[in-house]
Amino acid sequence: MIIGGSASQKLAAQIAKKMGEPLCPLETRKFPDGERYIRINGKLEDNVTVVQSTGYPQDENLIELFLILKTLQNMDVTNIRAVIPYFGYGRQERSFNPGEAISASVIADLIEFSGVSEVFCINLHETSICNLFNVPTHNLSAMPVIAEYLDNCRDMPLLLAPDHGAINFAMDIANILGSEYDHLEKKRISPDLVETKTKNLDVEGREVVIIDDIISTGGTIVNAIKMLKENGASNITVSCVHPVLVDDALLKIFAAGADEVIGTDTLKSEISVVSVAELVAEALKSK
Ligand code: R5P
Repeated sequence: MIIGGSASQKLAAQIAKKMGEPLCPLETRKFPDGERYIRINGKLEDNVTVVQSTGYPQDENLIELFLILKTLQNMDVTNIRAVIPYFGYGRQERSFNPGEAISASVIADLIEFSGVSEVFCINLHETSICNLFNVPTHNLSAMPVIAEYLDNCRDMPLLLAPDHGAINFAMDIANILGSEYDHLEKKRISPDLVETKTKNLDVEGREVVIIDDIISTGGTIVNAIKMLKENGASNITVSCVHPVLVDDALLKIFAAGADEVIGTDTLKSEISVVSVAELVAEALKSK
């Protein structure tokens, strides 16, 4: 049985359909003062999977997730699985400066406290986040589904990671497509300012696909596009797993010269054209 939280209703429905499982009715709303209310209306089975992404508004979506999980536990469901397609607060998985909260760790504790038995996420910002949980936690990769999408409309493009942290994504997709990959070097100056080292790329007249896990402000991608343009790339597709897309990020990316921007449906957005439903359904079936 699948329950779709309000952040992931369509994805939950698609996962349920692919698994041949029923979708459990869930009522979610806000009280006049802004507090979240949930009510599980269906007759519950022993195994229930909750699908809830925790992107913007992160705190509200998280509270909803905690409420659903705890309610299932209170209703004596024995096996409660959580699919969290985008794990909010995942970029603060350690304390970078003294006194900072290790936000991802606190979130993991709260999810676990809420009664979860097993967790499924997609391309966590750091794989080490799995270790913050004491219950089995799986970090699925959307690279095969992104590669499949690209394979249908691209001819052996160069895969480019906009920073060293994304090199494995570029490598995974390049290996599937049988093409080449490269990466840039990036330094983050502040949450909305990044610096990318100048680099000569062999992209004259070539089709290039940039791949990253998250597009947030778009700063990382805009810098990469500028470098590709300077080096003569003929066509630039931007791809990501999690289209966070803060404010005018998408506009900035197109204005910089992207020909196409795509992402997955771990988060709802204008560019969520690649579905992770099959990937999640297969993982749920196999565990
Ligand atoms: C950072 O390490 C991530 O992989 C992304 O590159 C980053 O989150 C993108 O952020 P922004 O779009 O704000 O540059």
